[in-house]
Amino acid sequence: MKRLIRCILIGGPGAGKGTQTKRIQQDFNFASISSGDLLRAHMLNNTSLGQQASSYINKGRLVPDKLVLELILTQLNSLKDRNWLLDGFPRNALQASALDTTLEKLKQPLSIAIELQVPDEIILQRVQDRWIHAPSGRTYNYSFNPPKVYGRDDVTGDLLTKRSDDNIETFRERLKDYRENSRPLVEHYGKKGLLVTVRGNSSEEIYPKIYETISSAAEKY
Ligand code: AP5
Ligand code: MG
Repeated sequence: MKRLIRCILIGGPGAGKGTQTKRIQQDFNFASISSGDLLRAHMLNNTSLGQQASSYINKGRLVPDKLVLELILTQLNSLKDRNWLLDGFPRNALQASALDTTLEKLKQPLSIAIELQVPDEIILQRVQDRWIHAPSGRTYNYSFNPPKVYGRDDVTGDLLTKRSDDNIETFRERLKDYRENSRPLVEHYGKKGLLVTVRGNSSEEIYPKIYETISSAAEKY
């Protein structure tokens, strides 16, 4: 790669942010930060942040900006010599502005904002089929990437569980929240000329477009 790539992934609940992040990590050796995975790790460890976050997450609402900004922005300095990717952050215009300010200070300009667009009926089915290994964040789906042994994590053999926010009622709230917040976010990156929108019904259809976007961004300059 000829230059460092710094990228954010925008997309509704179940759009495939986590799935695409794994592929990008493997193909391009990116570091990644997932705000949702970090918040769930805090919930699992019952930290003060986890306790505060769980009441929002379980209702499908965004966690207050102050908590999320502290959690994510403090980690960016350690990534300065790496290609990196943020999954699920920023999530609204305020978080995007805070990220801009931090990246300016760190002299780490953002390269691309990738927006994933997947139809609602497809993502609802996906989250209903999703099972996770909570300690590692590994994700399975019985119709897409099933575990080798039914109900068990491939690596540890632990029992798989459901995410506390993967039920129809909470999913609808998450989707509503995404609709309200994503337009200003997408406009923010559109104005900066960084937005790339990728549409498709499956990760197989979407990933080649992401691969192409990142490859060509890396070749620029
Ligand atoms: P977060 O963890 O970010 O959840 P989300 O945005 O709702 O997105 P998901 O993780 O559910 O979906 P994904 O896009 O990663 O899709 P995945 O690859 O798993 O956030 C959770 C909560 O934390 C938020 O609601 C909020 O409360 C809080 N939060 C997080 N960040 C925040 C922030 N910045 N500010 C404030 N609050 C914040 O794919 C979905 C499923 O589909 C999987 O089962 C997968 O295996 C399957 N799948 C993927 N591709 C395919 C395919 N091609 N065919 C079939 N199945 C597929
Ligand atoms: Mg995810």
